[in-house]
Amino acid sequence: WLIIGGATLVLFLSIVGVQAFATDAHPPGSLVTVDPKTVTQEAPFNKPSLTQVGPKEYKAVMVGRMFTFQPGKMEIPAGSTVHFQITSPDVVHGFEIAGTNVNMMVIPGHINRATYTFNHPGEYLIVCNEYCGTGHQVMAGKIVVK
Ligand code: CUA
Repeated sequence: WLIIGGATLVLFLSIVGVQAFATDAHPPGSLVTVDPKTVTQEAPFNKPSLTQVGPKEYKAVMVGRMFTFQPGKMEIPAGSTVHFQITSPDVVHGFEIAGTNVNMMVIPGHINRATYTFNHPGEYLIVCNEYCGTGHQVMAGKIVVK
């Protein structure tokens, strides 16, 4: 029975492995690969910022690193749509905007993207929900919707 169990495990892991490489699988939302060592020295991630790209439309270029989000605080008018793109130069972080359905990983070597329309005024907390080290619990940001 142990041999059958072991053989099944090997079979299933092989299927997963072949599928992952054959389909060139990536974490959800990140098709772009970058070098985590240099990504924060080059545009656009050398200057993390919120920029307006249209009427009530913004682009947030962000970096998640131990133990902060850059930019840490952003202000937008209610009804604004924000296109987030974020990467990490160090370890895997989380990017969750409390009270919304935005919840993704921040992965070194990848750019992850999410878009959200903030219809309701208020303060939205951005939290890191992947354990990333001794300062994990203080890693947070804020979006103020007026
Ligand atoms: Cu970054 Cu936890």
